[in-house]
Amino acid sequence: MMCLWTMDNKLDVFRRELVDVQGVPLFWSIAEQWAQVQSFEAWPDDLLISTYPKSGTTWISEILDLIYNDGDSEKCRRDAIYKRVPFMELIVPGFSNGVEQLKNMSSPRLVKTHLPVQLLPSSFWKNDCKMIYVARNAKDVAVSYYYFHQMAKMHPEPGTWEEFLDKFMAGKVSFGSWYDHVKGWWEKTKDYHILYLFYEDMKEDLKGEIQKLLKFLEKDMPVETVNKILYHSSFSVMKQNSNTNYTTLTKEEMDHSVSPFMRKGISGDWKNHFTVAQYERFEEDYEEKMKNSTLKFRSEV
Ligand code: A3P
Repeated sequence: MMCLWTMDNKLDVFRRELVDVQGVPLFWSIAEQWAQVQSFEAWPDDLLISTYPKSGTTWISEILDLIYNDGDSEKCRRDAIYKRVPFMELIVPGFSNGVEQLKNMSSPRLVKTHLPVQLLPSSFWKNDCKMIYVARNAKDVAVSYYYFHQMAKMHPEPGTWEEFLDKFMAGKVSFGSWYDHVKGWWEKTKDYHILYLFYEDMKEDLKGEIQKLLKFLEKDMPVETVNKILYHSSFSVMKQNSNTNYTTLTKEEMDHSVSPFMRKGISGDWKNHFTVAQYERFEEDYEEKMKNSTLKFRSEV
């Protein structure tokens, strides 16, 4: 049996099995506090940032905080990204409670979630909140998630790459199936205020994607400010910035010596990881899972 207490009698929160919530595997502590998450009270001027993990959440969060602060990078250095843009459903005893954090924040709030669309607290729909979804191609997400499992200890041990890829394809990872996640949120764009973006488009033309964000937020901005935002949200600057690179967390939570949070920041790294056999198996399964959707991804730019 797994021991849930450490030597110094602290509850061992890390590397525990995921727990099923309405068919979606989540961190045990989120499942335990599920009622608190479900009753989260969204405000009408909240901006929700929704992603499947490893799809560019931190990147879009930093861009939006820069937009909210008119490109003033000093203001955005007021705190770590996980404080400026709280991760709503992340409840880890002794470490984090996104619901509480958000209660204590003043409006307008930027709210991060990884929940699949069917699990989003209903107050977001009732208040008709604006939402931004960022999707990234499945193969790069799988690779990035594999490295993240090694360094971010809330996840169960990933096993080998081959074992992890199987779990990813079966949706037996935290926040469930990538396929259901991207399709579920895509369907909702028909009826709600959702701007659906792609990591690959951001890599190719970030300026164009920032223009889309500004239009969606009904905000005008001088070109110099947009240029400042481009600079401060670049991978190299964010990798060096302790308020975006997650190095302010404890080593217990994230061990950057295993793999840095700001790992590569490119499209197409999957080519360095998939064998030909894995690629073929993945593509066949992908076709089947995505065949009824109009969503199209690019796996490199
Ligand atoms: P890699 O592991 O492929 O490098 P999330 O924030 O959703 O957890 O996503 C993390 C992924 O986004 C990591 O991918 C990380 O390097 C990448 N990323 C973070 N900031 C970025 C930026 N400014 N530009 C490009 N990619 C970025």
